[in-house]
Amino acid sequence: MTEELKTYAPPPALAATAHVSGMAAYEALCQEAENDHTGYWGRLARELVSWKKPFTKVLNDSEAPFFKWFEDGTLNASYNCLDRNIERGLGDKTALIFEADGGEVTKTTYAELLAKTCQIANGLKSLGVAKGDRVVIYISMSVDGVAAMQACARIGATHSVVFGGFSAQSLRDRIEDTGAKAVITADHQIRGGKQLPLKAIVDEAIGLGGCDTVKNVLVVKRSGAEVAMTAGRDLWMADVVSGQPTTCEPEWVEAEHPLFLLYTSGSTGKPKGVQHSTGGYLLHAALTTKWTFDLRADDIFWCTADIGWVTGHTYIAYGPLALGGTEIVFEGVPTYPDAGRFWKMIQDHKVSIFYTAPTAIRSLIKAAETNDTVHPKHYDLSSLRILGSVGEPINPAAWEWYHHHVGGGRCPIVDTFWQTETGGHMITPLPGATTLVPGSCTLPFPGISAAIVDETGNDVPNGQGGILVVKKPWPSMIRTIWGDPARFKKSYYPSELRGYYLAGDGAIRDAKTGYFTITGRIDDVLNVSGHRMGTMEIESALVSCTELVAEAAVVGRPDDTTGEAICAFVVLKRPRPTGEEAKAIAKQLRDHVGKEIGPIAKPKDIRFGDNLPKTRSGKIMRRLLRAIAKGEAITQDTSTLENPAILDQLSQNN
Ligand code: WTA
Repeated sequence: MTEELKTYAPPPALAATAHVSGMAAYEALCQEAENDHTGYWGRLARELVSWKKPFTKVLNDSEAPFFKWFEDGTLNASYNCLDRNIERGLGDKTALIFEADGGEVTKTTYAELLAKTCQIANGLKSLGVAKGDRVVIYISMSVDGVAAMQACARIGATHSVVFGGFSAQSLRDRIEDTGAKAVITADHQIRGGKQLPLKAIVDEAIGLGGCDTVKNVLVVKRSGAEVAMTAGRDLWMADVVSGQPTTCEPEWVEAEHPLFLLYTSGSTGKPKGVQHSTGGYLLHAALTTKWTFDLRADDIFWCTADIGWVTGHTYIAYGPLALGGTEIVFEGVPTYPDAGRFWKMIQDHKVSIFYTAPTAIRSLIKAAETNDTVHPKHYDLSSLRILGSVGEPINPAAWEWYHHHVGGGRCPIVDTFWQTETGGHMITPLPGATTLVPGSCTLPFPGISAAIVDETGNDVPNGQGGILVVKKPWPSMIRTIWGDPARFKKSYYPSELRGYYLAGDGAIRDAKTGYFTITGRIDDVLNVSGHRMGTMEIESALVSCTELVAEAAVVGRPDDTTGEAICAFVVLKRPRPTGEEAKAIAKQLRDHVGKEIGPIAKPKDIRFGDNLPKTRSGKIMRRLLRAIAKGEAITQDTSTLENPAILDQLSQNN
């Protein structure tokens, strides 16, 4: 099917005033980086970041792929996000507009956010938390959450935020891996009108063992409901900060000092603790917020991601604050009290830049189609000027709806491709420069040498798909996998790729325009509602139900709303169940996975078989399972299959 793709040129008014104004300006920046890679990044690092001690060397590649950026410079991320804005006269400017699940709105100025951050920082110090220590933050979207991250940055403690939807087991694993000295949490989180426990899950996680490094658990009051407190370990945040000074001298850290660890799924069972630096990370957070979103002094910026994911780190906790922006922090969910919540909030707060995930757009399209009252046309969205998308490919139909019904046909959509490991945008349109093509993340951010190669690192021509790599290092790149440098090297810099960074995605460039389209992961990682899930992780969770499960294989299948859905094939230690029994066991297994990893990892489909399709050497043939999961007829070669009859059984078993 050849379809003439529509293109959308930047709106002239925006193009005229944008930070990167017009294609020639974009190309000039790319050329500057091409001519002098380190000169380019050095210039920007001096312009966007305030250094305590200026760096003299931009890049140290002597231990590649363990690159060091701005190595001899010192800085503090929280100073850059808070104090310097106040020094520039923005103390009374609103930094955060918090909207609670129930709709209450609280505004926090830069001066107030600094005071709060300093009190938490002093509180942490009083408990013995110091530079280099790790602090796990397990909290929902809140001013306290952002301030806790900033407070860690202020004292040089490395934070590791764990998404509030992860289970006790997942939280335990992360606490153990980081060796955290303290955990910051809340009594509960409130989402969609429901009160969900956080503190009780922290207790359960620590109770599972292996968390002996944790000296204190600091608990923010959210619900006010009673929770168990362990004497000598658990403290109310209010008590810890009360009486603490509202100033705190920043700890000036080296540029390479780890600002945070964030766990993400890879192709093996164990999540990876992605380690980010302070200097290089902060530079790209600020730079991409400035150029990709064209952030201006009077913008109201809303990134709907949770601070438990990288998007919430870069585009809530750091990027917009580093530029003195005003941003929304939203506690709730897009469908509560109804699926018009996002549109109502854009209208109420006069949001001008809106950044969300395709899965949210697709579910809100569905909601508007079934209930016209929540259609965006009923809201005044005229404040919007730029829209963004992140986390997974946005299909052209969803793109068009977003553009037309949310953006009123006037707002460019920046489809931003990046990853936890990249720290910030890698391939993305710039709203005042790039002509958009729905479904394409367009062109590399200036200075990012994204390319498509074959398995041995040779460039492939445009129009031909291949492996997405980044040829040169960039400041906000992953530094290592916490505690496992060998895995870092193996996962991201495999020897056959000549020192290129391996993103783990497939991609293709348009033959004419050179525009990039991401074709999906090339490893065993699924993308469900924009959340990364390793198939091995889910398989391990299933087989850990030892009384029931003998073997399990997990694959993804396309899903209209969530992008991909998790499909599990399970062999039980008892005869294959059918009918009601199969349903009951499937529910039991789903709940088990929810407990092991978190609700986001629960398989949508569970099919039972007497066996799994395997090669004669015993390898599970996942490509066949993928076809069955999709409901496709098997047309692939099955000659190496040990047990062909199993395919029929698994195909019928719905
Ligand atoms: C996918 C989220 C297509 C991709 C920031 C990547 C995308 C993974 C896009 C990273 C996009 C992210 N178009 N695919 N605009 N953005 N992805 O680490 O597969 O949670 O490797 O970071 O999401 O997911 P992560």
